[in-house]
Formats: sequence, C-alpha cells, structure tokens
Amino acid sequence: MITMLERVPTGIPGFDELCSGGLLRDRSYLVSGPSGSGKTIFAMQYLVNGIEKYNEPGVFVATEERPQHLREHFLTFGWDLEKYEDENMLAIVDATSTKIGLPSDERYIDVRPFDTRSLLDQIITIQDEIGARRAVVDSTTSIGFTISDPAKFRVELLKISTTMEILGLTSILTCEVVEGGGDKISRFGVENFVVEGTIVLYYTRIENTRVRSIEIFKMRGTNHSSKIHPFEITENGIVVYSKEEVFA
Ligand SMILES: Nc1ncnc2c1ncn2[C@@H]1O[C@H](COP(=O)(O)OP(=O)(O)OP(=O)(O)O)[C@@H](O)[C@H]1O
Ligand SMILES: [Mg+2]
Repeated sequence: MITMLERVPTGIPGFDELCSGGLLRDRSYLVSGPSGSGKTIFAMQYLVNGIEKYNEPGVFVATEERPQHLREHFLTFGWDLEKYEDENMLAIVDATSTKIGLPSDERYIDVRPFDTRSLLDQIITIQDEIGARRAVVDSTTSIGFTISDPAKFRVELLKISTTMEILGLTSILTCEVVEGGGDKISRFGVENFVVEGTIVLYYTRIENTRVRSIEIFKMRGTNHSSKIHPFEITENGIVVYSKEEVFA
C-alpha cells in the first residue's frame, strides 16, 4: 500500500517553507558546502529542533570533531547537548578519537578503521536505547577518504542511507566540497546520487565580505524553491531569508 508522504520539519527558520514543509520521513539528505559554510550547525539545529519542538530523539555521528568540542561550541547557541544526552533524547557517536589515536571515554565510540557495518551496528544499539527518529553523519567526506574507490564509497553511502531509512531515521549526511574545486555539490562526485535530496550551502566572497546562501539543489518528491536564498548564523543558529534571493 502506498501511503501519503509525511514531512519532517527541520524547524530551521525560513528553510521548511522552501521545500513544501520539510524533509520526507525516513529519507536521507545531503548537506554540502565548503569548510565554515555552516553544515555542522545546520545538521545539529535539525536534531535540536527535533528534540525541542517535535519530541523526536536524534543521533549525531561525529567523524571530524570530538563530542566534547561539539558540546562546548553548541552551548554558545544555548543548545545544551549534555542535558539532551542525559534525557536519552540525543546520542553522539565519537567516530573521531580512535581515528586519530586518542582514547575516548564517550558512551558511544566508533571503531577504526572505518567500517560501515560496525557504524550501523552502533546505530542499531542506539535505536534500542533512545528510539531516535532523526540522524546526522557529519561528515561523509572523511569516510570517503578511507575508501579510495569512488564506486565502493557510493555503495557504502547507499548502505548507510538505506539502513537509516529501514531503521526509521530521517537523516542528514554532510559533505565537504573544496572551494573552487569544480563540482560544488559533493566531494567525490557520487554522494548526490544515493540521497533523496541535496542542500548546498555557499560561503561566497563578494568584494571584502563573505555572504552565506543556501540552495535546494534536488529534493525528490518535493516542490521546492529553485532560487538561492541568503542565510545568517545568529546567536540562535541558522536563519534562512526565504523571501530574499541572492544573484550570482
Ligand atoms: N555563535 C556563533 N555565532 C555566529 N556565527 C557562528 C557561531 N559559531 C560559529 N559560527 C560561524 O559558523 C562557522 C562554522 O560553521 P560549521 O562548523 O557549521 O561549518 P562547517 O560547514 O561544518 O565547516 P567544516 O567543513 O570545517 O566542518 C564558523 O566559522 C563561524 O563563521
Ligand atoms: Mg563541520
């Protein structure tokens, strides 16, 4: 039986109205952009809103920042990750420490070398404990570097996104692009194909300032804006100006 598509609002001000109310339930999305463009903030804000506004627990797989740094950085937006973790509303998987040879006393630790199977086992365990509905893998780029063959990486990403869907998780996978590196959508040229949608964050230099903007590049099953909209990172997180446009 085919059921009506359910929307999962990100709760990010100005964003959901660009895409008919939000993401599709149990689908995976890519958020790509250069370093410093706001990918990690976008992804964490999606989880924090899930917890605060929609009572949906979340999982955050951190492959590039140690969980302790995330907790400290996000407190500046007033997001108390430790409190959510204590309430079993948030699980942070430390997939960073072992990669760089550091011990970790985190509750959830991913093993090295990177192995999709063990990451997914970890997420399944977390699912039993907190019953998450939203997930983030930040970022897939560092996973890609451990798999030299783009075709294999594509299969691994497909495994991650499909398992997330089966586990009932609506997920955001982040992906770093190199500024001026041609393809602005993904790092390895394959990430875009395995997801239901791709959101691109730009951080463009215009004369002597940098301007942030966002584009919904693709979103299957969704009537979405085809414009590029400005956004800002405020003391409360990302705010998208959905009624404004950025011209190239
Ligand atoms: N409290 C804050 N208020 C305003 N802007 C902030 C605040 N905290 C961070 N920023 C901005 O957000 C940027 C970092 O955003 P974020 O970590 O989401 O980027 P990213 O795309 O994940 O980068 P990377 O690929 O390097 O991980 C900072 O460089 C800074 O410009
Ligand atoms: Mg980041």
